[in-house]
Amino acid sequence: MGARQATDRSEGRERRLEILYSSAEIEARIRDLAQDIAAVMGPDVMIVAILKGSFIFAADLVRALHHAGMRPRIDFMMLGSYGTATASSGRIEVLHDVRDEVQGREVLVVDDILESGRTVAFARERLMARGAARVRLCVLLDKPGKRGAGIEADFVGFRCPDQFVVGYGLDYAHHYRELPFIGYFADA
Ligand code: IMP
Ligand code: MG
Repeated sequence: MGARQATDRSEGRERRLEILYSSAEIEARIRDLAQDIAAVMGPDVMIVAILKGSFIFAADLVRALHHAGMRPRIDFMMLGSYGTATASSGRIEVLHDVRDEVQGREVLVVDDILESGRTVAFARERLMARGAARVRLCVLLDKPGKRGAGIEADFVGFRCPDQFVVGYGLDYAHHYRELPFIGYFADA
């Protein structure tokens, strides 16, 4: 087994995963991303992390933002989109909304992956409607192949090939979020 592969046994059977981004690569990229964000946004940004997928990324990003001299506030929005395990239907449901005051704030929406763009477009519109001064978007992965909502992120960790990926917060049917790297199934 090469260095870019891992074996996962979390569903009672073995699945081979190709590692796309190792934990060391993710860590290094987030450090640079935090510097980019700090260069553009004021220190008192409000982070809105989209659950569940972004929870690990957001946790690492806010600590990197601290090292970059920022003082982020952090709140969460949990959004669900109906669909199958690997494709969303387009309908978005608010499962948990932001609790903190949004009015007048510089907001950075943080999500795991930008695919069609519907999820972050929805979050941005909702935050603008609540009076945010400005809403920027930061995604760990940008999968441009399936973009529909005419939306681009302001800050992108990695441009990702058009593969279904898991790990580092991203799931397949509620599994694999705990993996410290991002990979895809070799046998898929
Ligand atoms: P969008 O609304 O089509 O941009 O989809 C974004 C959401 O779909 C993300 O927040 C993820 O939760 C999920 N998603 C999209 N692609 C993947 C993937 O490759 N692996 C795991 N989840 C994904
Ligand atoms: Mg998600």
